[in-house]
Amino acid sequence: MTTLESMFVDLYGVARSPRLLRAPGRVNLIGEHTDYNGYPVLPMAIARGIRCLAAPRNDGTVRIANTDGRFGERVIALDALEHAFPQGDWANYVLAALRGLFVDAFIPREHALGFDAVFDSDLPVASGLSSSSALVVVSALAALAANGRSADPLLLATALARAERHAGAEGGGMDQAIALLARKGHALKIDFFPLRTRPVPIPDGCDFVVCNSLVPAAKTAAAREAYNHRVAECRLAALLLATALGIDPTPSGRPIRLAALSPAATGLSVNTLLDAGEDAFGTAPWSARDVSQRTGIPLPDLELRYRLPDADARFHLLQRFRHVLTEAARVQAAALALAGGAAEAMGSLMDASHASCRDDYDVSCPELEELVALAKRHGALGARLTGAGFGGCTVNLLPADMVDTFITAMARDFYAAREDVLAASGMTLNDALFPCVPSDGAGEIAVTDREAL
Ligand code: GLA
Repeated sequence: MTTLESMFVDLYGVARSPRLLRAPGRVNLIGEHTDYNGYPVLPMAIARGIRCLAAPRNDGTVRIANTDGRFGERVIALDALEHAFPQGDWANYVLAALRGLFVDAFIPREHALGFDAVFDSDLPVASGLSSSSALVVVSALAALAANGRSADPLLLATALARAERHAGAEGGGMDQAIALLARKGHALKIDFFPLRTRPVPIPDGCDFVVCNSLVPAAKTAAAREAYNHRVAECRLAALLLATALGIDPTPSGRPIRLAALSPAATGLSVNTLLDAGEDAFGTAPWSARDVSQRTGIPLPDLELRYRLPDADARFHLLQRFRHVLTEAARVQAAALALAGGAAEAMGSLMDASHASCRDDYDVSCPELEELVALAKRHGALGARLTGAGFGGCTVNLLPADMVDTFITAMARDFYAAREDVLAASGMTLNDALFPCVPSDGAGEIAVTDREAL
């Protein structure tokens, strides 16, 4: 019996027909901080992920446990889903999934069954590899299985992206979409509002290696705040640019997104839009008061509608706008480069993306910089931070025959001097530095396959 199964039996007894579900983590190859602006991304699912062994129960509760001792047992009452756990608690991601399923009626609330579940994972947490969305997705699949339901993956991904925001980060929809819709051997070009995906084959000779900076990232409190601050900056940039271009800044009553001011939408070239941005924003940071004065929107309305952080916050609008606009163009070029097998072109786009994330979006850190510089020295065609940034991982594009030597060199030059940091993080070197293959999206693992796990 696997640890997952024995823990399940210890906690809940033998279930008649438990189901085994799995959702993968992901690396984003390019298109960082574009999703919530309505622009595309290009991630791929990796072979690491979160599994969940689950069986229905009929007393209206969900009981969850984890083979990782850092995440304690929790009980969730289906009729009290509005009661969140303290911020940062892992159960909030399960809660988010349940809310998403009920709010969007994938499972009718009346007569909904709860479930018992044990989770395990080989996806490092707080690494920018999307462990939180994998947890949301696998929990949703467990709830659907317990209730004998299925869901259209596009609709489910959209609902879960919305639902995960309850956990505190104003994320876009990339992570839930790739976890649900990924296809083996492919990256996915994902477009948003509405969600659409297109598989892009990863050509032979393009291999990817992940390097963890050992700086915890992802949804930690500080990273969440910094992330939400970037989201607010983009909303304000879109508001001011739309106003400057004479475009309605609240189409259908909602704040406009930057993608609604794209070259395709406005008929203006990237350079013309960059010039318009420079005219609209100038180079100095903005306060909420400045934006209020420029637009005539009363400050309290602005703070509420655009979900602005504290009153002293400063917004770097030109830099954020420049990143998003140029990154969106790089995603289009990267999808073409990959599809055409142009590894070097893809690598250059990844390098440019990293520079833009660092210089204009300000989401890098010294350890990520060190990793990227080392990677380039050791033969990476492209090297960039992946995910939200502020720590977490880099993704590196290598010609296939160089993967082994690259890994040896990175182990020696980055990780050898950090054995204590690695040990304290609970990761092995193989969890921090590993090649990744484009893998399938979430689903059920058949009982027959389970014996092999
Ligand atoms: C996090 C979010 C995503 C996306 C990335 C940055 O992973 O969950 O929606 O915004 O950051 O590209």
